Amino acid sequence: MGVLCACLLLVTPLVISAMPLSPEGNPTQEETAGQFWHISDLHLDFSYHITEDRTKVCLSSKGAKASNPGIFGDFVCDSPYELILSAIQYIKDSHQKVDFMIWTGDSPPHIPVKELSTKIVIDVIGNMTSTIRSLLPDLLVFPALGNHDYWPQDQLPVKESEVYTAVAEFWKPWLTEEALSTFRKGGYYSQIYKSNKSAHSLRIISLNTNLYYTPNKVTVNMTDPANQFEWLEDTLKISRQNNEKVYIIAHVPVGYLPFARLTPAMRETFNERLVKIFRNYSDVITAQFYGHTHRDSIMVLLDEKEKPVGSVFVTPAVTPIRSALETDSNNPGFRLYQYDTTDYHLLDLWHYFLNLTEANLKNESSWNLEYIMTKTYQIKDLQPESLEGLVKRFQQPESIEFLYYYKNYLVSFDSRVGCDPLCKLQQICAIQYVDEESYTKCIIGSKEFK
Ligand SMILES: *[C@@H]1O[C@H](CO)[C@@H](O)[C@H](O)[C@H]1NC(C)=O
Ligand SMILES: *[C@@H]1O[C@H](CO)[C@@H](O)[C@H](O)[C@H]1NC(C)=O
Ligand SMILES: *[C@@H]1O[C@H](CO)[C@@H](O)[C@H](O)[C@H]1NC(C)=O
Ligand SMILES: *[C@@H]1O[C@H](CO)[C@@H](O)[C@H](O)[C@H]1NC(C)=O
Ligand SMILES: *[C@@H]1O[C@H](CO)[C@@H](O)[C@H](O)[C@H]1NC(C)=O
Ligand SMILES: *[C@@H]1O[C@H](CO)[C@@H](O)[C@H](O)[C@H]1NC(C)=O
Ligand SMILES: [Zn+2]
Ligand SMILES: [Zn+2]
Repeated sequence: MGVLCACLLLVTPLVISAMPLSPEGNPTQEETAGQFWHISDLHLDFSYHITEDRTKVCLSSKGAKASNPGIFGDFVCDSPYELILSAIQYIKDSHQKVDFMIWTGDSPPHIPVKELSTKIVIDVIGNMTSTIRSLLPDLLVFPALGNHDYWPQDQLPVKESEVYTAVAEFWKPWLTEEALSTFRKGGYYSQIYKSNKSAHSLRIISLNTNLYYTPNKVTVNMTDPANQFEWLEDTLKISRQNNEKVYIIAHVPVGYLPFARLTPAMRETFNERLVKIFRNYSDVITAQFYGHTHRDSIMVLLDEKEKPVGSVFVTPAVTPIRSALETDSNNPGFRLYQYDTTDYHLLDLWHYFLNLTEANLKNESSWNLEYIMTKTYQIKDLQPESLEGLVKRFQQPESIEFLYYYKNYLVSFDSRVGCDPLCKLQQICAIQYVDEESYTKCIIGSKEFK
């Protein structure tokens, strides 16, 4: 336990009570502000049920004892249907005026490959799609596939497949025929979001970054799986010509994992290529949105001269599951972004969470506002310069902002280990540096590492 951990325990209640707004509060909607939701990593465990034998509560615990199972789940299990339903119901009942929702994948549970099948995976994605559609019938959703949205998991293919075809059918109500045609071939698409409040159009580019994910054996040795890089560059060129703005959405994030050292989520060569493209088109790409890590984190895309040119957000999971190797988990969470409708730059984000322990105690799902990004961190918006200024404050030895950040990283899960100086170093390097050279320099060159 380092000094930081003790601080963290002391500070947590302060953060909660310092929250300036009631949970029922609504973001102020100005004329030029739009909103959208972002949810990720629902991971439905259809086997979840409360039973005497704690090892048999859910298949996703893989025989581990559930710690405190209740109707909304357990920290060693994937989501019971009740939990997912309560999240979507909360979104419905909030009556927020939103333009669309981003949904960054991973619907099936973390259960052994042999206990799943192509049919089960397709059924679960279908179930999640119908659940969202039935509660939010008028909402436009821009989805992306996750590494679990395939069987066997992680092995997403570079050509047509039963899964891509079936999922394209499910997503027909949301996507155009043009988007579905690239989706069927490679699991990616782009689509224009039309708004008449702006001189620009917004283009959503949904990437299949699972093709670059390290455990994907299909794409080993390939330079451009499913021709996605070529397509991405062509699409961005068109966007630039047409004076569009772009949001990148995908499951597996660009950059380095904040909980590991020297480990990108994707294969290094793929990550490098993606970073180059994002830098090259930073005038067009306004923001990027990912899931997969199940944690709440940010990244700042810096150009070669270390000027901040991109804002990157990783939304945490709805599932509270932790792996056998982890001590800490996350409470279920999702979020609402505010953007400027004139040029689509991000103004703020409101993050919501469910205190799973409390929800189970009360048999009641009380989702609450966890934090408002600009308020918690005292920043003026979510533009790259603001995030870069914030990470500079995180770096201060006793940074209170970093304590807030780490609390939010775990979605207010009561951390058992806290974040020692080496943990903080990994977090800070991962926020600031997304390419190999600068990230490695950040880690290797630090005094904590020596
Ligand atoms: C989704 O799965 C849940 C849990 O297995 C089930 O209760 C529900 O009826 C299913 N819904 C749909 C729309 O398939
Ligand atoms: C565009 O403007 C028209 C007329 O002002 C309005 O009826 C319509 O709902 C607007 N569409 C969008 C997508 O905002
Ligand atoms: C990838 O390339 C290496 C080195 O050329 C080779 O040993 C390996 O068999 C290749 N793997 C696949 C899946 O093609
Ligand atoms: C950057 O974009 C230009 C065209 O806009 C292109 O010619 C060049 O190859 C791109 N470079 C990289 C590394 O993507
Ligand atoms: C969650 O609820 C539990 C049980 O009521 C409580 O001990 C804990 O402090 C709560 N955590 C947060 C972040 O509100
Ligand atoms: C909550 O639900 C469980 C199982 O459905 C039940 O055993 C328990 O008594 C309930 N607790 C409360 C406080 O209602
Ligand atoms: Zn996941
Ligand atoms: Zn994932």
